Amino acid sequence: MAVRRISAEDHGAAVVAATRPGPALHDLHPRADRLYDDVRAGLSTVPRKLPPKYFYDEAGALLFDRITRLDAYYPTRTELSILERHIGEVADAVGSNARIVELGSGSGVKTRLLLRHLRAPLSYLPVDISRTQLHQFAVSLAGEFPALEIQPVCADYTRAWSLPRTSGDPARTVAFFPGSSIGNFEVGDAVALLTRVRKLCGPGGGLLVGADLHKDRATLERAYNDPEGVTAEFNLNLLRRINRECGADFDPGTFRHRAFYDEEHFRIEMRLVAARRSVVKLPPRGKAGSALAFEFRPGDHITTEYSHKYTLAAFRALAASAGWAPERVWTDERRWFSVWMLRATS
Ligand code: AVJ
Repeated sequence: MAVRRISAEDHGAAVVAATRPGPALHDLHPRADRLYDDVRAGLSTVPRKLPPKYFYDEAGALLFDRITRLDAYYPTRTELSILERHIGEVADAVGSNARIVELGSGSGVKTRLLLRHLRAPLSYLPVDISRTQLHQFAVSLAGEFPALEIQPVCADYTRAWSLPRTSGDPARTVAFFPGSSIGNFEVGDAVALLTRVRKLCGPGGGLLVGADLHKDRATLERAYNDPEGVTAEFNLNLLRRINRECGADFDPGTFRHRAFYDEEHFRIEMRLVAARRSVVKLPPRGKAGSALAFEFRPGDHITTEYSHKYTLAAFRALAASAGWAPERVWTDERRWFSVWMLRATS
């Protein structure tokens, strides 16, 4: 794979053509030592915390795909049913000749539904941190939608990033951010991200975004503690990735998955809890010249993910703080999930 890597910091520089077949990749993939630096920092603070974006290595993406099909995990199927039911209205709200930017491209079920129903979309730009999955996804979409310009962007969308130019003249840019992935972010980061998305979309821009809603604790906790144990595997896989890519020596067998609803903050919190004492070593790398050892005593934990849940009013307020005004909101009968069409206010 002869793709020149450009760090996210260099994003001004950016278009890079892959030498393999398929749509040209706009490559802003972060440096490989970003994970190492984040792990080192995250394990050195109290409480220990790791960013959830690192769940999605190849194994993690497959595990997440299994999560979305679990009985207990209601968000994916609820959001999809809302989109299916209202797809005509969604297409009208997006309008014709739009440029569509998707944050995190996933398995593509919702994307295909949207692209099939939009009125003459001009271009589609999936933004994803996993280069291999992104490339495969772009190739298969290019085959299915030959009239659409597909412009994959490999980037960590939580950092600075840019968009390549579309060859046509789009009526507007609409970002698609499904799955309630916005829920991973604490309010300040969520506002910063949605503000950056608004600026990227420009005047007249739109945002089609999914937001999971507050509901009874039992339903929420079951969704993140599935009886099949897939979410537990997904959580523990993070330690395997850190061992492989950072040379750490976590024994995943000494950690337990735990997820609970924090009603005060309206969020699921996922943790890895130490069942026994262990000392985890992280070898030195780059500027960080010394090895580090992290002691875990029984009951110590690492927070690996927040998944915020919203009321309609709370999400509307969050969007407003980022300069987005609601045009439409669709929900299911149980009001478990919401899909919003927002418009940039300036
Ligand atoms: C992809 C962030 C929306 O928070 O529900 C699923 C990730 N974590 N099960 C979520 C996840 C555990 C998911 N998001």
